Amino acid sequence: MTRLIRSVSAMQALARRFEREKRRIGVVPTMGALHEGHASLIRAARQGNDIVIVTVFVNPLQFAPQEDYRRYPRTLAKDRRLARAAGADIVFAPAADRLYPKGFQTTVKAGALGRRWEGASRSGHFDGVATVVSILFQLTRPTTAYVGQKDYQQALIIRRMAQDLRFPVTVKVLPTVREPDGVALSSRNAYLSEAERGQAAAVPEALAAGRARILSGERHAAPVIETMRRRLAGEPEARVDYVAVTDAATLEPVWRLRGRVALLVAVRIGRTRLIDNLLVDVP
Ligand code: PAJ
Repeated sequence: MTRLIRSVSAMQALARRFEREKRRIGVVPTMGALHEGHASLIRAARQGNDIVIVTVFVNPLQFAPQEDYRRYPRTLAKDRRLARAAGADIVFAPAADRLYPKGFQTTVKAGALGRRWEGASRSGHFDGVATVVSILFQLTRPTTAYVGQKDYQQALIIRRMAQDLRFPVTVKVLPTVREPDGVALSSRNAYLSEAERGQAAAVPEALAAGRARILSGERHAAPVIETMRRRLAGEPEARVDYVAVTDAATLEPVWRLRGRVALLVAVRIGRTRLIDNLLVDVP
């Protein structure tokens, strides 16, 4: 049975005990509304660890005031069942006012990597992510943490934060789980109307078109960006936030393509913001 822990101090005491017993602790940080993408991370954690902890916490610090913190889906009973089926031992779901008690004021800043792309569109977002993940690591003491490539910039930031703050954890980045039409699974897909959901397929198609241009010999970023933008422009409700070709390690934009590059897309479809990415090894 998967154990539900709400108490911050109970979680901390238990994780410390696991640590003393030299058990390998796999941790999957989430905001709940769990789907197959999360399940793939939990199954990977099950494979490589003695204890698997899934954290479920909708983190107010990473939402800007006008964003969807209040309406973000909260489905704990269902999450618990999914986590259990995927092999979790513990679901840690603290209340917001316990993780951030009165007087809380110390935060982690994500640095330059946190100011680009998602960070430019969502001011303070990655500081909020870095802060909550460092607190969750402190409480759950992972040997290995599992994150999704779906949020590639976030994955790089979490890995960097763990290195910089000397958490003794390996951060594993796992492939994006997609719907049959290529759309990346995301808790926010639930906001899409049927018509919008149809148009969302343009996002993975744009990425695939960008990759195809590189694989067929293009060595400059501009035509690849143009190809991706053109595919997205075909959808009436899609508003491009950014389309970029970057170095896969630094997320700095590149002009001449070589090594491993990351294609990044963020679009708004109606009121819903979708992000996706693809890594391409330039031949
Ligand atoms: P959340 O959006 O719930 O995502 C939790 C983890 O699941 C992240 O590592 C994310 O990249 C991964 N994930 C989401 N969709 C995926 C998919 N389709 N395939 C594979 N992995 C997927 O990301 C967050 O929560 C939060 O920012 C968090 C890191 C928990 C900090 O609050």
